[in-house]
Formats: sequence, C-alpha cells, structure tokens
Amino acid sequence: MIKKILIVFGTRPEAIKMAPLIKEFKKYSEFDVKVCVTAQHRQMLDQVLEMFDIVPDYDLDIMQAGQDLYDLTSRILLKMRDVLDEFKPDIVFVHGDTTTASIASLAAFYKQIKVAHVEAGLRTGDIYSPFPEEINRQLVGIIASYHFAPTNLSKQNLIKENKSPENIVVTGNTVIDALFLLLERMQKDNALKDKILTSLNAKYDTSRGKKIILVTGHRRENFGDGFINICEALKTIAIKNPNVDIVYPVHLNPNVQEPVKKILSGIGNVRLIAPLEYGEFVYLMSMAYFIITDSGGIQEEAPSLGKPVLVMRNITERPEAIEAGSVKLVGVDKKNIVSQAQILLDYDEIYQKMSQSRSPYGDGKASIKIVEFIKNLRSER
Ligand code: UD1
Ligand code: UDP
Repeated sequence: MIKKILIVFGTRPEAIKMAPLIKEFKKYSEFDVKVCVTAQHRQMLDQVLEMFDIVPDYDLDIMQAGQDLYDLTSRILLKMRDVLDEFKPDIVFVHGDTTTASIASLAAFYKQIKVAHVEAGLRTGDIYSPFPEEINRQLVGIIASYHFAPTNLSKQNLIKENKSPENIVVTGNTVIDALFLLLERMQKDNALKDKILTSLNAKYDTSRGKKIILVTGHRRENFGDGFINICEALKTIAIKNPNVDIVYPVHLNPNVQEPVKKILSGIGNVRLIAPLEYGEFVYLMSMAYFIITDSGGIQEEAPSLGKPVLVMRNITERPEAIEAGSVKLVGVDKKNIVSQAQILLDYDEIYQKMSQSRSPYGDGKASIKIVEFIKNLRSER
C-alpha cells in the first residue's frame, strides 16, 4: 500500500496547483506526506507557500539569477537524489511541465520509485512550443505510473500514447481547487479580503476607476522579437485608449524584465508592477475587463471568473477554453494583438459573449479525486 508520499514542485504555478492537493492528503493520517520544493523560483514560490501556509520539508534552494536549462536540470537531479535517499517515498507527485517536474520524475525513475503526474496529458504536438514544456510533460508522461488528466481531451491524448486507461483519471485541474479555496476564504473572512485589497492597492491603485487590461507574459519561445512585439502592441493599445489602464505584474525573469521596462516604462496608463501574491492577483483578475497573457494557469482560471482572455501564443495545449468561447489565440504579431484588444474594447456584443462564466477545467474537486484514487490503489499497477 502507498503510504509515503513526496510532493515535488519548484515554480509559482506548480505551487498554486499543488497546494490544494497537499491540503487534501494531509487530512488522512494513513499517509506520511512530505513536501519538497526545488525552488526553481524563489520569491515567486515563497509568495505562494506563505499564502497557503505550506512549510516545505525539503528546500533544494536551486534558483540562480538568469539560470539556463542546463543549470536547472543538473542542480535538480543531483539534489533530488539525496532527498529520495533520505525519505524513500513510495510515490513521487509532480505537476505539469516544468523542468522541476521532468527532472524530479527522472530522479524518481532512477530509483525505481513510482511517479504520479498531476495535470497530465496536455499536448500541442510541437516540441518547440511551449519550449521546453511540451517535451517536459511528454517525459513525465513516459515515466509516470499514474496520470491525473484535467479534462477528457487530455485523457484522450494519453490514450493515443498507449497509456493504460485504468491508470488515467479525469479530475479537473487543481488550479480551480486553489481558486475556489481562495475565493471561499475571502468570502468568509472580510479581514482577509480587506488585507488583500489593501496590499493590492499599494501596488496598483484600484480606485483609479479605469477599465483594466491585466497582462502577464513569460514564455521562453516569446523571448527576443516576440516580447518586443508584445510590448509594442501594449504601448499602442495604451496610447489609443487613455481611459484604460494596462496593469502588468512583470515576471522576474531578466529576459522579460529587460524589454518590458525598456519599452513600456514612462507611459502613464501602463502600470508595471512586481509579481502579485496569488490573492492579490485573483482579486485583480476579478476586477479586470479582460486579460492578455501567454500563461497556462491564467487561461484556466479566467473562464471561471468570466474574464475574456487573449492568449499570446500561436498554439495552445488548452483548447477547451477556446471551444468554450472565453479564450482567443492572438499570437505575438503586434497588429493582431492590437486589433483583437480593440475589438474587445469597442464591441460589447463580442465582449459579452466571451465574458460568460464557464468552467471547462473542473469543479474544484480535483484534489479529492486524486487522493481517492491513491487511497483505493491496492494492487501493484
Ligand atoms: C518557469 C518554467 C515554466 C513556467 C514558469 C512559470 C521551466 C523550464 N520553465 O519558467 O514552464 O511556466 O516558470 O512562471 O521549467 N526569477 C527570479 N525569482 C523568481 C522566479 C524567477 O528572480 O522567483 C528569475 C531568475 O533570474 C531565474 C529566471 O527568472 O533564473 C528564470 O526562471 P526559470 O524558472 O528558469 O524560468 P521561467 O521563465 O520562470
Ligand atoms: N499569478 C500570480 N501573480 C502574478 C501573476 C500570476 O499569483 O503576478 C498566478 C496566476 O493566477 C496563475 C499562475 O500564477 O495561477 C500562473 O503562473 P505563470 O503564468 O507564471 O505560469 P504558467 O501558468 O504559464 O506556467
């Protein structure tokens, strides 16, 4: 029987999406659950750990400024060896498609420890987009024994790759668990809600009364020309629409900081701010008119909040929200980003269609389904 569970993650989105699962596992004394953070991210990870009261049992503290994929890969692999030797888990949980996820799975495989993959089965079919995430998740898919797929489509992707159906569970995405957990806490606890709003206001004054376009961007395949186009597009939208504030919490990656600050500093209605804590970000999403992003997680959260999203990618592994009508792919072409944003600002009918609240990524019970599956695992599968 599976008893010793090691949950490994390293970046902001993985922390948000693993937090509800940790909480769920910890309800059951039959499990010995330990949390290992690689700290592939540092500040952006710590913000989430604090928000969800998670104190890691192992902190590999590997982040270096401007790290590349070789730095990440080698540092995670070596440090994971020591953690696995010490804790000797029965199963290692990883999430999604980061280098933490792929290398922690490889480390577990080298010791013939089973791997469970949360957010399994997302695919674009293009190994360079998103890069290196498409290969990271395929690697985890090859190694993992258990696959927790957010949607039926992701399950079908895994079946096409000959994974055995009895080891694939469609759960919804745990990001919806995290979102609902937070919204519920804010609804019940006015003091918490006020605290979040006060700290958000210190970074962006929400009482300015402007329409808010919330922006994030960080994908490696967009570095260079892609980011320059994105920033030029945002600049044009800001200048054309003085009644709108573009609020952009800028990812700490130097490849993002540099072009964003160079092109967008000094424009009155473009507000460049530090990455927001999760509570602040959800609050701001709920106030935003629409969102422009290349983020994976935000594509999943925004439809539940009824917020239209323009996705700055040419291809996505999350087509469900496009089919549901909340998300549009706009690529990284300057003209297209500007014209699609202007359509949302100018045509109420189109805006209204995209801003219906929908939930293609689940009902907030993904973590319960995952833990149930593990509790019921009796035989060696
Ligand atoms: C990583 C993941 C990506 C995920 C993204 C979420 C990989 C290869 N990439 O990309 O899949 O979508 O996180 O945000 O796994 N930095 C800080 N402080 C932080 C975080 C980052 O200073 O808290 C800076 C550092 O200079 C660091 C750099 O950002 O070297 C890049 O971080 P890294 O995790 O390598 O790449 P991301 O682009 O964040
Ligand atoms: N997020 C946050 N603060 C921010 C920007 C994003 O807490 O300033 C949250 C967002 O709600 C989502 C996650 O971070 O849950 C997305 O992270 P990111 O875009 O960095 O990674 P991706 O999802 O693309 O892997």
